[in-house]
Amino acid sequence: MSIEQLEDIAQALVAEGKGIIAIDESTNTIKRRFEAVGIENTEEHRRAYREMLLTTPRLGEHISGAILFDETLRQSTKDGVPFAQVMREAGILPGIKVDKGTQSLAGFPGELVTEGLDGLRERLKEYARLGATFAKWRAVITIGSETPSGTCIDANTHALARYAALCQEQGLVPIVEPEILMDGDHDIEVCYEVTEATLRSLFGALYQQDVLIEGTILKASMVLPGKDCDEVASVEEVAVATLSCLKASVPANLPGIVFLSGGQDDAAATAHLNAMNQLGHAPWPLSFSYGRAMQQAALKLWAQDLKGNYAAAQQIVYARARDNGLATLGQWTG
Ligand code: 13P
Repeated sequence: MSIEQLEDIAQALVAEGKGIIAIDESTNTIKRRFEAVGIENTEEHRRAYREMLLTTPRLGEHISGAILFDETLRQSTKDGVPFAQVMREAGILPGIKVDKGTQSLAGFPGELVTEGLDGLRERLKEYARLGATFAKWRAVITIGSETPSGTCIDANTHALARYAALCQEQGLVPIVEPEILMDGDHDIEVCYEVTEATLRSLFGALYQQDVLIEGTILKASMVLPGKDCDEVASVEEVAVATLSCLKASVPANLPGIVFLSGGQDDAAATAHLNAMNQLGHAPWPLSFSYGRAMQQAALKLWAQDLKGNYAAAQQIVYARARDNGLATLGQWTG
């Protein structure tokens, strides 16, 4: 894989009017999502649910790529067509989550570090053979009265950079995701400071590991007040704070930034993205890589009747893709 090919994939992921659907919930995470709607967490239910999502008619109009969990990349439709093939035929790039989740950071109570570097080169080789063109690794930064520590930020960004270098070595575009959690009562200024410190550390680490920035995508969290903060921030305030924070810490040669939804409701996630794109003057395309804000309404409907609501659930998936696609252009009208 050449440098140009990595750049082409990265650019395709943030092509005009398109974004990513994240359906890479681990078996434990999807268990929580299924439990909330009364669905048993069996392999067949996970397969059927993801088939519903990935075979949504015309999904490729607004979706450039989908991030899968290991199990899903190995699964097929009920008619036996591998999901990776279904996606390619729909013009959707297959991606794969490759981190192994978080563990407590030793010596730093309340802080987490993401694991998964051991054996990663071999796993990436296999994922590339199975059809993956890009990968994702999520680090988690928790805001508390004493956190995050510099040690936690640097341990996580070092791992993100090691992962990114390995991906590019194997011809996969790395999505680097340092998620600043919305949990807590911190205000928007604190979120801004933590996000800026984390992104500066991340790009420092990426340079140190000689990662090709032009072949990398950043998956960022928006700059928001914590869920339990008394002060609310307007859509405009979130858009201005997020854009200004990114401009202060992200190099202009990055091909694009995609946002996670992080627990925002559907309308808020779309409105914030739309407002940022209306502000304009960002050096990168600003798009989405939503999990919950793409899926939660469709999951509820699909779960009511695994067969009868199939088409209606797919219409919702399509509508969420279209709305978020419009928001990448600043053209969403609510
Ligand atoms: P949410 O949009 O639900 O935050 O999920 C995105 C994701 O992939 C987190 O890693």
